[in-house]
Amino acid sequence: MEAVLHPIWNGGCIPLEQEREQWATKIGLILAMAGNAVGLGNFVRFPTQVAQNGGGAFMVPYFIALFFLGIPIMWVEWVAGRYGGKYGHGTLGPAYYLMARESVKPRGALWWGVLAGMLGFALTVLLNSYYLHLIGWSAAYTYFSAAGSYFGHNTGTFFDNYLNNHGEVFLFWGITVVLLAIAVGQGVSKGIERWVKIMMPLLYIFAIILVGYVFAIGSPINPNWSTIDGFKFIWSPNWVYLKQHFATVMLAATGQIFFTLSLGMGIIQNYASYLGPNDDVALSGVATVSLNEFAEVILGGSLAIPIATAYASRIVPANVFAQGKDAALSWIGQHFGLGFSYTSLPNAFIQMGGAGRAFGALWFLLLWFAGFTSAIAMYNYLVALLEEDLNIKRKVGTWIVLGIYFIMGLPVIYIGSYMDQLDSWISFQLTLLALVDIIVAVYLFKPSNFWNELHKGSYIRVPVWYKWITIIIAPILLLIPLVGTFKSFVTGKIGVAPWTAIIVMFIIGAIESYYAIRKKYGEELEKNEVIVKL
Ligand code: PHE
Repeated sequence: MEAVLHPIWNGGCIPLEQEREQWATKIGLILAMAGNAVGLGNFVRFPTQVAQNGGGAFMVPYFIALFFLGIPIMWVEWVAGRYGGKYGHGTLGPAYYLMARESVKPRGALWWGVLAGMLGFALTVLLNSYYLHLIGWSAAYTYFSAAGSYFGHNTGTFFDNYLNNHGEVFLFWGITVVLLAIAVGQGVSKGIERWVKIMMPLLYIFAIILVGYVFAIGSPINPNWSTIDGFKFIWSPNWVYLKQHFATVMLAATGQIFFTLSLGMGIIQNYASYLGPNDDVALSGVATVSLNEFAEVILGGSLAIPIATAYASRIVPANVFAQGKDAALSWIGQHFGLGFSYTSLPNAFIQMGGAGRAFGALWFLLLWFAGFTSAIAMYNYLVALLEEDLNIKRKVGTWIVLGIYFIMGLPVIYIGSYMDQLDSWISFQLTLLALVDIIVAVYLFKPSNFWNELHKGSYIRVPVWYKWITIIIAPILLLIPLVGTFKSFVTGKIGVAPWTAIIVMFIIGAIESYYAIRKKYGEELEKNEVIVKL
């Protein structure tokens, strides 16, 4: 693509601004954003968090976090992304430098850019190192379900055997990542947008079919155990549990809101950077949240947990099951985890008889679609970083990113505890970056600028009390979990391998952002005065 010179760019002394790609259609943009948000978080992580945090007890802080953090921070990130895009940036380093510059001198703003860029880079690479493996497992299990491979076997042992068969693990991982590379390599409007326009409607259709089936099964094995028990577990507020475990449940709910909405990472900003400067962000931001929450609470909430309760007698060990409903439900709660879908739910599919193969295949295909459309966004973040900051062509960049993913994914396969430890760290970092969002894109950018940007070209007017929620309530709600978990995070159970990966990614991310900002804004950093202003 031709580079064009912007007249305000100091007579061309400053590096050229690239003409940016934009989303071709509104529907494509909305589906891409929904695809970005709707992921394994909705169908695997959400039920896991609900189950581990007292069912109905979890839903109360979950909705609080949604209204006071999820919605406002979604707007903040859309605004920040579109703003960065205006200057030709789809990554956090330069974009946050530009916003911080509204309150502090360029040399001070540089450090905010470096901080945001460092966190965004490290999170994207590290989350992907295991996220892509989970998607690969889903591809494999789509095949195993359709072929009936685990039928008649112990599902736990089957899963272990699969994980130990590295050739097979890499095969399905590889198919997934190569398809991702192809989609991202084709570009934003010609690649990503086209893929999600097909995948997202299918994803919703798959989920609705599966939910329909769940409603139809009732009590398949034992009249005392039905899918309704699962719904009751999620939807009866459990105040006693909430009171007893307040801090933990609150943290889990906040972390889940960020995870599921893809906030605190940089990828919402990246997608929003491909907007025109006057494209709506206010309504589009709410649309993203609504599509995601429908997929999470209504669809995601009606699958794994209700299935697990309806088939409890096949999923819970016999001795625990014999102790009664509470004991069985609490076993389910404790054993829900990232692997539950691959180890425990297949027992339910086996019980479904002939329909089980189709049901299982559709469930894992749903997971694959959901994960894939989120992974595209993370992939694009890294490709944009290579493209914009290092002038590496998109097509070449996609293969470099594939290489990085391959290397960073190796410990997931070879070090047993690596994935869970990294995942426990991710929630903390997402929350931290969300706080940086508010500090830079609202406070340093100036709340009035933020509010004006939010309404530039907007289809709706956001009620003014949301401004106060964003400025005052959201940062307080972010600080509580951050302060509350800081100590356990630093002294916690994270081993040497994940720590090494985290530190190395921090260093690379910080150097990269520093270099990117200096390269584009070297002159104004030198003079410590703002020169480039659009
Ligand atoms: N939001 C996506 C999900 O729910 C993926 C994602 C998670 C993206 C965390 C960024 C950060 O799975």
